[in-house]
Amino acid sequence: MNMQTKLTALQVMQDAPVIPVIVLNDVAHAVPLARALVAGGIRMLEVTLRTAQGLPCIEAIARAVPEAVVGAGTVRSRADAQAAAMAGARFAVSPGYTSALGQACRDAGLALLPGVATGSEIMMAQEEGFTELKFFPAMQAGGPALLRAWSGPFFDVRFCPTGGVTLQNAGDFLALSNVVCVGGSWLVPPEALAQGDWARITALARATQALKK
Ligand code: 3PG
Repeated sequence: MNMQTKLTALQVMQDAPVIPVIVLNDVAHAVPLARALVAGGIRMLEVTLRTAQGLPCIEAIARAVPEAVVGAGTVRSRADAQAAAMAGARFAVSPGYTSALGQACRDAGLALLPGVATGSEIMMAQEEGFTELKFFPAMQAGGPALLRAWSGPFFDVRFCPTGGVTLQNAGDFLALSNVVCVGGSWLVPPEALAQGDWARITALARATQALKK
């Protein structure tokens, strides 16, 4: 993959079995964290915009860790999409879907993984050209059983389940034909960040390679 051309959502999903959902409160953590994940074989990194440090962290990773592909999570508005792209994000992940957000990500050149939890939301996203979707919150909304039910009517949609996914249950999702990868925050435990325990984060990333798609 040419790392500088515009990414598709499918490329974002196919790079590794897990997209880490990253919540950072300290910009000093961004670069060592990104390097630790890359060392463990994970380079698609979703840094959420739910903290004030999200954007500066995206910027720091985009500048200092060219081996990583940084994206923005918790993208909910046109302003979020524009700010994420300006900071150097290459993709966006959202907890839900609106037409305005879909258009804003297209305008900003960001691949978007829109969040859905119901059939109507899938149909709306699909109508507007999105066929690779985040299923959120995955465990709370119905888990692997719901995805299996969706594989009938929504046979042409592929999902990244996120929310309550762990190393232990990720395999149940990845075994499904309509799942390409999963998302989860377990790769970046807050206490490992606080302690600067980058080796632990690399080990958590490496452990996901046993997960097979
Ligand atoms: C989120 O956006 O909060 C993600 O879904 C992370 O969920 P998790 O913490 O349950 O992995």
